[in-house]
Amino acid sequence: MENVMIMEHPLIKHKISMLRDKKTGTNEFRKLVEEIAMLEGYEALADLPLEDREVDTPIETCITPMIAGRKLAIVPILRAGLGMVQGLLSLCPTAKVGHIGMYRDETTHEPVPYYCKLPKPIEERTIVVMDPMLATGGSAIDAINQIKALGGKHIKFMCIIAAPEGLEKLHAAHPDVQIYIGNLDRQLNSDAYICPGLGDAGDRIFGTK
Ligand code: PRP
Ligand code: URA
Repeated sequence: MENVMIMEHPLIKHKISMLRDKKTGTNEFRKLVEEIAMLEGYEALADLPLEDREVDTPIETCITPMIAGRKLAIVPILRAGLGMVQGLLSLCPTAKVGHIGMYRDETTHEPVPYYCKLPKPIEERTIVVMDPMLATGGSAIDAINQIKALGGKHIKFMCIIAAPEGLEKLHAAHPDVQIYIGNLDRQLNSDAYICPGLGDAGDRIFGTK
């Protein structure tokens, strides 16, 4: 599938396995989500454009590459996406951070949006939308609809675990969006939870239940 990258790095695989374990507590879970986001971010930002700049080293002046052009916007989908933000900020500390708030209706599994605040001008930025879970795809599709309606153009979506159902829907709705996935799991269950998954990501990051 074009524009879809599933992570192969053994560190990411190992850390996702630790996330899945129901014995992993909140503190460790948070750290793992942040670390995985950083490792995925390294891959997701591999196509950032470079430009040559002049730099004075202690020895001489040289022409050397630095990140060019479009600025970065990190946009977590609340709540669980918040857990991934620091991972990407540790790679790109000057990135701006927007927020999109939505939760899934428990019976329909449809996303219910409640908040949206993006850094301006959004149309000039590379935007990385983050959410650990891509289940039915409803939340990611709606978040990206909102970003595009506000002018966002260069959009990437990063998640830790995806269900095949959600990946297919998201890719069909937004074929231009580059999708980065930690692991593609087997399927959704009748409650639209990912199997084997890791349970409710928001509850496990924030210790609610
Ligand atoms: C979870 C998750 C995604 C969404 C994925 O959030 O963090 O946002 O479900 O499901 P989907 O692909 O079927 O839309 P949840 O609705 O539990 O909200 P929360 O983060 O506030 O707990
Ligand atoms: N949201 C979660 O947090 N987990 C799932 O398995 C599906 C949606």
